[in-house]
Amino acid sequence: MIEISNIRKRLGSREILKGINLSVEKGEIVAIVGHSGSGKSTLLRCINRLIEVDGGDIKVNGVSVRKYNPVELRKIVGLVFQTPVMFEGNVGENISYGLRISKNKDLAYETEEVERIAREVGVQEFLSSDANSLSGGEQQRVALARALILKPKVMLLDEPTSFLDPKSGGVIENLILKLVKSRALTVIWVTHDVSQAKRVGNRIAVMQKGRIIVTDKSERIEWGKVYV
Ligand SMILES: Nc1ncnc2c1ncn2[C@@H]1O[C@H](COP(=O)(O)OP(=O)(O)OP(=O)(O)O)[C@@H](O)[C@H]1O
Ligand SMILES: [Mg+2]
Repeated sequence: MIEISNIRKRLGSREILKGINLSVEKGEIVAIVGHSGSGKSTLLRCINRLIEVDGGDIKVNGVSVRKYNPVELRKIVGLVFQTPVMFEGNVGENISYGLRISKNKDLAYETEEVERIAREVGVQEFLSSDANSLSGGEQQRVALARALILKPKVMLLDEPTSFLDPKSGGVIENLILKLVKSRALTVIWVTHDVSQAKRVGNRIAVMQKGRIIVTDKSERIEWGKVYV
């Protein structure tokens, strides 16, 4: 579903991605762990073309991301950030944002979908509240709903629980797992937390200084050697 071949990216004078290779099967969850600055967020941004690679290629569903219109690509490939960003307006408007800008759905469909997905992520009681008044965990639920309403095939998750306390982080982790598994989504889940990577990932990729140094099932990774 996702094939990343030898991608390189330079930012300023530094090479941030130094030839990344990674394949993720349809319905698979690959967790990426790596120290701060190793290039994890940069890699995710390349996949949905928030930034463009300097070399190599990324294919989604067999097609190079360069061939997609970036707006269409971002419907298929959802991205959820570490810190949720709420737009001005209420929760319902935040969730329906992508549907409204694509303008190809009628209002009744929109209202129904927003309510359905708000219930699924557990924010139905806040639909008419100012999105910025919600707690971090609630905002992250809204961010998930906003991505999922576009029916993506791929979800890129950039440390989606790391700004939450451990208990709320655990709740959101389980919610994300439920949402992505029920839709059989293909997922790349970036985390600092090796135990989270082991819980959520079918496989784990370890990133270090712009390279993926190992990709394997957690139990086959010699953790003491690769993540120190
Ligand atoms: N626009 C930019 N110009 C120059 N350097 C940049 C730019 N954006 C990111 N970098 C550098 O690229 C490196 C990788 O950044 P990136 O955000 O991908 O790391 P990360 O692995 O996601 O880290 P963290 O775990 O802290 O989120 C960092 O050293 C960062 O300073
Ligand atoms: Mg990052």
